[in-house]
Amino acid sequence: MPDIKAFSGFQLGIGKTQVFDLPVIPDNRGNLTAIEGGKFLPFTIKRIYYLYDVPTNAYRGGHAHRALHQLVIAISGSFEVKTDNGVKRDSYFLNTAGKGLYIGPYVWRDLSNFSSNAVCLVLASEVYDEADYIRDFDQFKGCLKK
Ligand code: TYD
Repeated sequence: MPDIKAFSGFQLGIGKTQVFDLPVIPDNRGNLTAIEGGKFLPFTIKRIYYLYDVPTNAYRGGHAHRALHQLVIAISGSFEVKTDNGVKRDSYFLNTAGKGLYIGPYVWRDLSNFSSNAVCLVLASEVYDEADYIRDFDQFKGCLKK
């Protein structure tokens, strides 16, 4: 479990999803947002990746993670994130770089409805590890029962 002492606002943990306002330094020259792992974010950022040039009819995601914590940000454009933690399904429309969607472990996620200019930035608590993925929905449901 990541170090959570520095942050109080996050409902961090297994099965959790939550949208947060990101800190912003406004300026008449434009906004600036800085995110520091272990400070604003309750996990150390070990990896960033981003999705871009996504066809508008494409589906991404379609999996859950066993240990990974992520913050998903629509850096540009918009897209939809549907989540399912086995108890509750939610749908989030992300369309601003000023908000981030936290997704905890054991949350199935499907991303769709990408606008033509969408860039989906992901801050992740771990380096890439295929063994951390659950890519089969029935297997995911089975894991939740254990
Ligand atoms: P995947 O996580 O399934 O993409 P998404 O959830 O965005 O649809 O990853 C797609 C491919 O990219 C898969 O072969 C694994 C690889 N990949 C990496 O090599 N490193 C990474 O950090 C990520 C996120 C994916």
